[in-house]
Amino acid sequence: MDTVRDVTALRARIRAWRGHGETIAMVPTMGALHAGHLSLVGIGRRKAHRVISTIFVNPKQFGANEDLSRYPRQEAVDAAMLRGAGCDLLFAPAADLVYPPGFATTVSVSGLDRPMEGESRPGHFDGVATVVTKLLLMAFPDFAIFGEKDWQQLAIIRRLVTDLEIPVGVVGAPTVREPDGLAMSSRNAYLSHGERAVAAALPRTLRAAAMTIAGGAGVGETLSTARAALKSAGFKVDYLTMANAETLETVDRFEPGQSPMRLFIAARLGTTRLIDNWPVETGG
Ligand code: PAF
Repeated sequence: MDTVRDVTALRARIRAWRGHGETIAMVPTMGALHAGHLSLVGIGRRKAHRVISTIFVNPKQFGANEDLSRYPRQEAVDAAMLRGAGCDLLFAPAADLVYPPGFATTVSVSGLDRPMEGESRPGHFDGVATVVTKLLLMAFPDFAIFGEKDWQQLAIIRRLVTDLEIPVGVVGAPTVREPDGLAMSSRNAYLSHGERAVAAALPRTLRAAAMTIAGGAGVGETLSTARAALKSAGFKVDYLTMANAETLETVDRFEPGQSPMRLFIAARLGTTRLIDNWPVETGG
């Protein structure tokens, strides 16, 4: 697996593959890879002949109060993991290649970028939408694979690909979890030993709340109880809400047979912010 750092080299490799009739899947990442990312590469391998992964810690999706310099960077380790997972090419551009002097374009997906993460992290999704659009247009892959852990991000990417008619199939990949249920995330590395032990309460509480609501209990009351349980476990809950899985609009009643609903949560444990989501479904 080679690493290329500029768009000319990237496109030359893609052109050669396309010349042999091969299809391409892209797995965009910010590095600090874990088994969740490698599962995306595995899905890419099943969907296409070639898999390109990108590593780019995108400054535009970090807020003023979020420490970009603290984000874990470990390209050599990541490259070895990608090679082991069967990735064919790593694209790891420098910031000034993605955003050269004079770069002035922002891709903004209005509406879907408002609730939940959008409220807690203003500007975040403009940064995501802009970089994902740029990466897709640099490579024009047949498929692009994103994890369902970042459900709102995935919904926004699906929207922008549809709206801008970018000819790529967006594939959502199931969240990969640690044995205790914690969703894999590069941010888990920030948790202290003690916090890590507590962290599994988040998916456990989320899942229990989803099952309680699916069983017929009131949404507001169930989510208040879950918030209180998380607070007493040491979390600061940013949001815990039930929303339409596609439109992301908050819904306060669950009725079997309505459009798919999910619970969405963001909560802080110490200085680490964790997010997760879970379907609300009868029989789930
Ligand atoms: O999910 C991520 O790692 C990032 O938001 C993405 C999609 C690679 C864009 O920087």
